Amino acid sequence: METPVDIAAAQGRLGVLLVGLGAVSTTVIAGVHAIRKKLAPAVGSLTELGTVRLGKRSDGRSPRIRELFELPPLDDIVFGAWDIFEEDCYSAARTAGVLEPALLDQVKADLEAVKPMAAVFDRQYVKRLDGPNVKKGKTKRELADALVEDIRSFKQRHDCARLVLIWCGSTEIYLQESSVHQSVDAFEAGLASNDPGIPSSMIYAYAAIKEGVPYANAAPNLSADIPALLELAGRKRVPLAGKDLKTGQTLIKTIMAPGLKARVLGVNGWYSTNILGNRDGEVLDDPESFKTKEESKKSVLDYIFQPHLYPGLYDQLHHVVRINYYPPRGDNKEGWDNIDLIGWLGYPMQLKINFLCRDSILAAPLVLDTALFLDLAKRANMAGIQEWLSFYFKSPMHAPGLYPEHDLFIQLMKLKNTLRYLKGEELITHLGLEYYD
Ligand SMILES: NC(=O)c1ccc[n+]([C@@H]2O[C@H](COP(=O)([O-])OP(=O)(O)OC[C@H]3O[C@@H](n4cnc5c(N)ncnc54)[C@H](O)[C@@H]3O)[C@@H](O)[C@H]2O)c1
Repeated sequence: METPVDIAAAQGRLGVLLVGLGAVSTTVIAGVHAIRKKLAPAVGSLTELGTVRLGKRSDGRSPRIRELFELPPLDDIVFGAWDIFEEDCYSAARTAGVLEPALLDQVKADLEAVKPMAAVFDRQYVKRLDGPNVKKGKTKRELADALVEDIRSFKQRHDCARLVLIWCGSTEIYLQESSVHQSVDAFEAGLASNDPGIPSSMIYAYAAIKEGVPYANAAPNLSADIPALLELAGRKRVPLAGKDLKTGQTLIKTIMAPGLKARVLGVNGWYSTNILGNRDGEVLDDPESFKTKEESKKSVLDYIFQPHLYPGLYDQLHHVVRINYYPPRGDNKEGWDNIDLIGWLGYPMQLKINFLCRDSILAAPLVLDTALFLDLAKRANMAGIQEWLSFYFKSPMHAPGLYPEHDLFIQLMKLKNTLRYLKGEELITHLGLEYYD
């Protein structure tokens, strides 16, 4: 057994601040209140239901993750949010239409208490949206200061011991790294001069990191994933995670692809299409926001299949991803995948997957887990990119020069080994020779 890492106790309340009070956020908040009241089960959440095996297979030690780390009880979580719309969380949840009104009505008072703070928002970065609940400021610097003020007063008002901030706002337009993103100094100068390379999500990320608050990005836009904010996170000892929650079709893709590759079956076509009718679908109907999402969704297969190592199996892959906005389906996304496979002697086969899923039902437990694990990381004094949380994301943040790990099963092993490492437990390699000595 190694020495366990010193982890500060989770005493007092944990404030979870969500940017955006849309389908995902309202489903997280209503869900946590419903679970607290024992109205519904926490299905899909590792922090609530997951276990971790410790020691040998024959030792019979598989504690709940929640108990092993004494994670904060759900009763100790208090939610806050920003949105460009003024609706409180109850009416925003009704608008999102994910959860049944009968369930929402049982947690109505808790949801009505979450009223969105005025947002930092600029239509330049999300073309399909506009709303009245928006901060005014002459510079992006002033807007960042206003967010810092919101964070501080929320913490004080709700008597929180610790905070976590998660971007659950809309997907912003596609931006590439530029000079303003290269250092903290350049970034701060850019805030003062209203540099167009700094979208709203970066202003939230900057404010969080400045305040020492762990930050995650549930959407694919760059946000904290730039050298300037990584530098700041290192200085302030702030853990970061992102980007783009891995739900729906990409989740299935990163379950299926490692399986096909494990059997060295070739794949020369993977056609993925979705219909989605919620506000996220509407925003993604704009080509510039879709481009951000497309980049995030498409890269996973290249990394999993490693075509450079398997010429002839994966180097001819045609990978197409489409999202079509189709209002009648609301949040209940339908995804189709057609996979063109190649087997023994080059014989072709096909695999079809039709996933009738619920986007925010899949996303909500990931937001809860990310919040609790980022809080754990902070209490363990871990800073910067938390690669062990790649498990939750389509475009996992990774150190420069490294390729991201997309295989869900490797990601889970990485996460659980990190938990073992934190507790000073032996890492599990699955070698297993010791059982046959
Ligand atoms: N649902 C999923 O399965 C899933 C999976 C991966 C990623 N995501 C991403 O998570 C994000 C949220 O998804 P959703 O389904 O809740 O979308 P949504 O459209 O229902 O909610 C987003 C909310 O963010 C608000 N918003 C936008 N810009 C803002 C800003 N600058 N400040 C404050 N509020 C802002 C919008 O007004 C809206 O209420 C999207 O970017 C989506 O692409 C969702």
